[in-house]
Amino acid sequence: MAKSGRKASFASLDKHRKRLAETPMRVQFAIDPNRFKRYSAAAGDLLLDYSKNRIDEDVMAALFDLARAAGVEERRTQMCEGEHINITEDRAVMHMALRYQGDKPVPVDGKDVMPDIRAVLAHIESYTNDVRNGVIRSHTNEQITDVVNIGIGGSDLGPAMLTLALEPYTRADLRAHYVSNVDGAHIHDTLKRLKPQTTMFIIASKTFTTDETMTNAASARKWIADALGDAAVSDHFAAVSTNIEACKGFGIREDRIFGFWDWVGGRYSIWSAIGLPVALAVGYENFAKILKGADAMDQHFLTTPLEQNLPVILGLLGVWYRNVWGFSTQAVIPYDQRLSRLPAYLQQLDMESNGKSVTLGGKAVGWSTGAIVWGEPGTNGQHAFFQLIHQGTDVIPTDFLIAAKPHESLPPHHDKLVANVLAQSEALMLGKTEEEVVSELKARGLDKAKIKELAPHKVFPGNRPSNTLFYPQLTPEMLGSLVAMYEHKVFVQGVIWNINSYDQWGVELGKQLAKALLPKVKGEASSDGHDSSTKGLLGYYLSHKG
Ligand code: F6P
Repeated sequence: MAKSGRKASFASLDKHRKRLAETPMRVQFAIDPNRFKRYSAAAGDLLLDYSKNRIDEDVMAALFDLARAAGVEERRTQMCEGEHINITEDRAVMHMALRYQGDKPVPVDGKDVMPDIRAVLAHIESYTNDVRNGVIRSHTNEQITDVVNIGIGGSDLGPAMLTLALEPYTRADLRAHYVSNVDGAHIHDTLKRLKPQTTMFIIASKTFTTDETMTNAASARKWIADALGDAAVSDHFAAVSTNIEACKGFGIREDRIFGFWDWVGGRYSIWSAIGLPVALAVGYENFAKILKGADAMDQHFLTTPLEQNLPVILGLLGVWYRNVWGFSTQAVIPYDQRLSRLPAYLQQLDMESNGKSVTLGGKAVGWSTGAIVWGEPGTNGQHAFFQLIHQGTDVIPTDFLIAAKPHESLPPHHDKLVANVLAQSEALMLGKTEEEVVSELKARGLDKAKIKELAPHKVFPGNRPSNTLFYPQLTPEMLGSLVAMYEHKVFVQGVIWNINSYDQWGVELGKQLAKALLPKVKGEASSDGHDSSTKGLLGYYLSHKG
């Protein structure tokens, strides 16, 4: 699709926006009793209700036309066939192979990658079983009780999010911890309650060069060596990386190095050995179920017509709001406390992928790209920022996630949780008109003057969009499906925006400057050559660091 074609599509969608502005959702629901049925879709047991959006059949038809014209289907095929769709790094994008459950070969650059993937999975399985069963023990011949994953970005957020989400599947005597920040407080506070004798570290880094991870790894190594001697290091460390030589250089035993491949992006790597701490925490069989659930979503994405395809629908709705309505943020609110790290995980997945401003051809895009993704679990968010979502001047499209069945038997908690999530999307859609407010206040016996004074504050504009994702229970399979669904949503949007969703050059400049600043921060070099603000801040630091 030509650049002008995209602009023309957005312009034609703009006519639909103007038309729909006359008919808020509450009117559309009143007119059409089948709206829920018309605008819901499912992938297996996962239900997406997208009826509470500013859409009608003409809008959806125009959006599906846009997806087709932008080449979503062709690009999807190119990705599956191992084409180097990550053009700036000249790499294939093959994370789907990591969870593929079929028996066909999956070639990347002329080689079937499935035997290597299965070999690493088998390695994860045996290592995980051995640690959990006490066959692999510590240097002091004790059972491992704590696993500390050291990594950042994609080497942290995914496994940390999954481990928290799958708490019901964990064992009380084997805990997983995650250290990411170069702020020494992070590793310090994590190790404070752990015993070197029973702690195992995993150094997780695709490149094995990331400064934060290498700095934390060195501190962890020292912690073990100080307590148990240098010889203990090889018994207390494992590594996950594409850079096998660097792992060996660190002193990791060869049979404790878990490889992956450069066709897996960091933020798409939870399905690889980056999931090792998850497998240790919940058992390999549950880790395998996560992969199975993700593969089920892949098959849905690859084979379901666009009109019923969950990632496609979510991606298109995001484009509709971003490019046509001009909404710049997207909230993700899981009514599932165990998904409390999902928004942070999705921030990297979405914003590192689609926070781009040049096209695949290297020209400035003529349209907005990735939205700002944020969120917190409900019901906590209701008592914090929901005021703005309901009555603020910005419209914030929101995804709600909720399970039908909790893992714990604690009535009436879950019914209340469900009542709240349904109430929020209903309130956002309906709003409350001035007439409704006035009649409520009248019924409460307020006089005319007081009603006039209060009414404007109590009006809710409504017509605020949301999706609800309902699933039977937060199982490993469902979690895999949910994450894969969001991965594909990001893909769909990247294709429509004609950007490369698989590189991340925008993180480089800060890294370079931090490297250059370090000697100056240490007071070993002069601050010359910097702007006055950076110089001033450096000066403040040097005079206060003590
Ligand atoms: O700096 C961004 C980034 O490259 C992410 O894309 C990646 O997930 C993270 O750093 C960690 O990288 P690595 O796994 O190579 O340490």
